[in-house]
Amino acid sequence: MRVIVDPFYSELGSRVVVFGGFDLLPLDFKLFPDGEFYVRVPSDVAGSNVAIIVGCMPFQQSDCFLRGVFLTSTLKDLGVKKVILVYPYLPYSRQDKRFLPGECVSARVFVNSLLSAGADVVVTIDVHSPDVFSSLGSRFVNISSLPVWRDYLKNNFVDGFFLIAPDEGRLEVVSKLAKLVGVPYTAFKKVRDLKSGKITSLEPVNADELNRLSKNNKTAIIFDDIISTGGTVSNVVKLLRKYFNGEVVALFTHGLFLPGSIQKLISAGVDRIVSTDTVKNSFAEVSVASLIADFIRRDIT
Ligand code: R5P
Repeated sequence: MRVIVDPFYSELGSRVVVFGGFDLLPLDFKLFPDGEFYVRVPSDVAGSNVAIIVGCMPFQQSDCFLRGVFLTSTLKDLGVKKVILVYPYLPYSRQDKRFLPGECVSARVFVNSLLSAGADVVVTIDVHSPDVFSSLGSRFVNISSLPVWRDYLKNNFVDGFFLIAPDEGRLEVVSKLAKLVGVPYTAFKKVRDLKSGKITSLEPVNADELNRLSKNNKTAIIFDDIISTGGTVSNVVKLLRKYFNGEVVALFTHGLFLPGSIQKLISAGVDRIVSTDTVKNSFAEVSVASLIADFIRRDIT
């Protein structure tokens, strides 16, 4: 299996190559003086299977989209049999329905465009709402990060902790993780204004239960799919601090960490921040490389 690693974020892609024992496919990549991308695949790739690992960063989502399109369609032009296009973090995934009349459902357009460019399968980790892509069948694969989080929690926290879903959308995933690790969990309810995106109300789903868990545990661990502005988790922690004065840990799959978000978390009372490496960031203690490598290996055999 041959793998192309996005030159804009080579760390995770390189880990996938090493972990899976794949061949790294060379790529000539440069920027034209005006900032446009130049892409060339100098090897003979006809008839082979190739995976592309694309790295996306905040404020550069359109660029990483275009790199995926350019690489995929070039490989297909050159006769590649199967292109597995991996976006460890899928940009635009939160605009996954028409919240207000006339809106673009960007999540669907993003993935459909990658498939139209020639990707045989688009793969991601912990997409915001997997159901939105169910009509694509096996052409869209959402890998759950839960196995790496289960190992992380088992290796780093002995007992005396509980998990928290910061909103009801995360309840199912958090309950699955809690069962894998064998700890209790609870959740908060969050409501956002559809126009401004601001959080208009937030409360524990069960205040008595939160009180009981707070009394019986040393550590509270919040698990969210994305941290962007830090608004969601910092507001949850401000409320949590009314019930709980032990250690508060915040786990995120996709660490976008917009400017100011880390300060918000710390001043709200978060003691420890941990993220995966789907997006390049300084809290990426947990790698999803093994999950991606395992998928690629399984998919081509
Ligand atoms: C929303 O439903 C997501 O699961 C995250 O909670 C949200 O995207 C985090 O964004 P922010 O850090 O800006 O609150």
